[in-house]
Amino acid sequence: MHRALLPGLASMILLAGPATAADAPPGASSCTGCHAPKKVADSVIPRLAGRKAEDIVTFMRDYRSGAWPSSLMGRIAKGFDDQQTEAIAAWFAAQPE
Ligand code: HEC
Repeated sequence: MHRALLPGLASMILLAGPATAADAPPGASSCTGCHAPKKVADSVIPRLAGRKAEDIVTFMRDYRSGAWPSSLMGRIAKGFDDQQTEAIAAWFAAQPE
């Protein structure tokens, strides 16, 4: 199901808008270009703000190992170790839904 997102991806990235959060941990700004920290109308990219940190960490591990198929996230997840992923996940979890 995630693979079906690929054709529309370029336009989705443009819709996502700029990152706004000031106190985000290192690396979080590499996510917010696509996963907006605030609610964005009509974005097809799954929202992370307000999600449970452990769920975000689990997704990132599975993307990195290839256990969970993705169009993009597998490559992105490889750029972050567990510690960085946990800090980013905790930050997203603390953002308002
Ligand atoms: C270039 C755009 C882009 C960037 C940058 C990006 N993501 Fe994603 N993310 C996606 C897309 C698209 C999906 C849907 C799965 C797929 O096709 O890869 C996704 C899915 C996810 C999911 C699964 C959510 C769900 O409910 O299915 C998580 C968790 C996630 N990303 C975390 C992150 C984190 C953390 C970062 C920063 C380190 C990040 N993403 C950076 C585009 C991006």
